[in-house]
Amino acid sequence: MDEQRRLRIAIQKSGRLSEKSLDIVHSCGIDFNADGRVLREVASNFPLEFLFVRDDDIPTYVADDVADIGIVGRNEVDESGYELEVVRDLGFAACRLSIAVPEGFRYEGLKSLEGRRIATSYPRILSGILEDNGVKATLVTVSGSVEITPTVGIADCICDLVSTGTTLRMNGLREVEAIYHTSAVMVCRPGFRQDGEKAAILDRLLLRMDTVNNARKKKYILFNLPADRIDDAARIVGGMKSPTVTPLLDRSWVSVQSVIAEDRFWSVFEDLRAIGAEGILVMPIEKMSD
Ligand code: PRP
Ligand code: ZN
Repeated sequence: MDEQRRLRIAIQKSGRLSEKSLDIVHSCGIDFNADGRVLREVASNFPLEFLFVRDDDIPTYVADDVADIGIVGRNEVDESGYELEVVRDLGFAACRLSIAVPEGFRYEGLKSLEGRRIATSYPRILSGILEDNGVKATLVTVSGSVEITPTVGIADCICDLVSTGTTLRMNGLREVEAIYHTSAVMVCRPGFRQDGEKAAILDRLLLRMDTVNNARKKKYILFNLPADRIDDAARIVGGMKSPTVTPLLDRSWVSVQSVIAEDRFWSVFEDLRAIGAEGILVMPIEKMSD
């Protein structure tokens, strides 16, 4: 296949985002090898090429046209300073950028950071927030192992990503304030979506992603109901054009099928029971178009 006709996607090689990023592509029925050592891969049944790279580099790759799209934390996009378009907010790998202090550091809000040395891998995001709050501090930029900096004396406290908080605890640091929240997004260059052939491949990919995603948030529901309660059932189930109603052999009963949002399931279930529904079956949906 002509190289130009493939969409190039940058995905984190290994780390917080990797597995879910690959899951998304797999769930779209796209087959490829994810060996972990091969840094460039081509899908066998879809015009998609993968670049497996460090997450910090993904915004640059997308901005510089090395990759067309990327799956990365919003924090890396904001920290890069590149103006990228968020194609989808994927929501996974949620974590926060927090201030953490060692034993004995009295923290009473951002003003406690005045004049202090703060180690971070996110100087752009942190300096923006400090500036908004009128706090002047010295930022010590490090690219990793931020947690060690207070112990070795090059910083008074840190500002780093926290997910479970284990890393902080294990390094004797206390999380005192979350200043920024982040999760995974899919990004492209501004204007890319008007870019003809490749943009059309992205649209195909997004249609598949949205179809899988829609299905995950929904459940298929099937139940028997006294025929004279159909209007009540339609009101309870709601949110769709009309439930499918099939007569049963016993004409005073019907079978009803519909799709409901997963998060409404228990309230719908209880209300249906209250109007005499029986044999309520709930099934997962694998794929669902709009
Ligand atoms: C972040 C951060 C911590 C760790 C915190 O690193 O720098 O080391 O995660 O996670 P926890 O609260 O669950 O212990 P990340 O995984 O983003 O690695 P990277 O900075 O090398 O990309
Ligand atoms: Zn990283």
